[in-house]
Amino acid sequence: MSVVRPKPPEDPIQYDPAAVFATGGLARKDVEAISGRLDEARRESLADIDRYRSGAVQPGEVLDPAFIDLPDRLLADYTTKRPESELFSILSTARRIRDAVDRVVVLGIGGSYMGTRALFEACCHPFHNELPRGERGGRPRLSFEGFNIDNDSAQGLLDLLSAPGGADDLLHRWALLIVSKSGGTLETAVATRLFLDALFAAVGGDRTALAERVVPITGTSGKLADLARAIGCPDVFDIPDGVGGRFSVFTAVGLLPASIVGIDVVRLLEGAAAMNRRFREAPIGENPVLQYVGVSHLAELRMGATIRVLSTWSNRLEAVGLWYDQLLSESLGKAEQGATPLTTVTTRDLHSRGQQHQEGRRDKLITNLLVGEPRRDRLTLPTISGFAANEDTLDDLVGKAWPDMLAAAAAGTNEAYASDKRPTADILLPRIDEHTVGQLLQMLMLATVVEGRLVGTNPYGQPGVEAYKKCMMARLRP
Ligand code: PA5
Repeated sequence: MSVVRPKPPEDPIQYDPAAVFATGGLARKDVEAISGRLDEARRESLADIDRYRSGAVQPGEVLDPAFIDLPDRLLADYTTKRPESELFSILSTARRIRDAVDRVVVLGIGGSYMGTRALFEACCHPFHNELPRGERGGRPRLSFEGFNIDNDSAQGLLDLLSAPGGADDLLHRWALLIVSKSGGTLETAVATRLFLDALFAAVGGDRTALAERVVPITGTSGKLADLARAIGCPDVFDIPDGVGGRFSVFTAVGLLPASIVGIDVVRLLEGAAAMNRRFREAPIGENPVLQYVGVSHLAELRMGATIRVLSTWSNRLEAVGLWYDQLLSESLGKAEQGATPLTTVTTRDLHSRGQQHQEGRRDKLITNLLVGEPRRDRLTLPTISGFAANEDTLDDLVGKAWPDMLAAAAAGTNEAYASDKRPTADILLPRIDEHTVGQLLQMLMLATVVEGRLVGTNPYGQPGVEAYKKCMMARLRP
């Protein structure tokens, strides 16, 4: 038997806006006409990295471009400095936690949990948490809290965590990953107290055991960093300066929980690094990031498409869409500007939103997130013989495969939209795996900052979010 393992595929994701041009609302030459501006926005986005590193930041300016070359830096350090590298530490802690517990609770909100959720739903078994440990490959279950102040859902999770069973039984042990860059976000902070309390009880008041089961991921200073020191946590991960919350999926924020549940984080980073190379090197006409920005921007300007629907053609991509909703709206929704993102899961949402997308206001650009091939064996329509005789009139479709039916739905939906000149573009993922998801997330982060530079909106920081926090705290601490 060969010991050489086949190299997993690394084919690139594709962006195709042909159906937008076919509506007549926008032409390819319109995008070509702004290629100088797109090139300048790419240059500026990349120059932000040097500006940040040399300290040339304007007073009061928020500048967080260090996410851009982060995948390349993590991989290079892992190759050259292995035991001292950040990725090595992440993988070691992941192994320790994986072997110690059967459930990991991630506490975090916004950028501190949405990327993790996107990775988990896209890359793991769709019913990972329902599978027995053996079928999960010995990887813990993953649960999320601290992203809301919802009494009953927090109670529900506490119910699961306190299910009867011996504290020594691996299947009843759990750990906490607490994620907050600022370390002060109320939703996460109150959940931290609640779940620390429950964990302290679960380990029978043993402080060393508690410390070993808590991994904080936070900025170098702040309340969570102080709490981590007080608890004595052996592993604490830093969210590096220059990487903002919603751009932090390729720091320990996303990589540690991803690795704990068995996601190949090296391939994820390789996918992101591959997208970086295309972004830097590909000519504008073949550059997926710049084409996506150019088309989306001009569709907003010329066609009034202020709503950007990311139509995901897999249940497993919904959380990627929700992560992107947050990325786009917090980054560009400023100074009364910025398109409104909206995630749909198709065909599910054709039965809830399809009417409006087909015949409602002409204010939408639909970008399909299509998947080339499924990861699992293809399901085919079975016969129904034995107890019924074609009452459902599906006999002519016997043998049709699920992916073929979905492809017909995608092509049919695009055709229906095209017949009414509704603009649709496609992002094609060859399949959903770590390499394509790494490419996709990096593509969308790069596109967001490039569009910011194109339209003169600083994509970093989210000053508007402070308003609700102030008003809420004034009520809590009058
Ligand atoms: O993108 C962002 O910076 C935000 O969405 C933050 O991630 C979110 O507000 C959580 O902040 P923190 O990580 O400081 O708790």
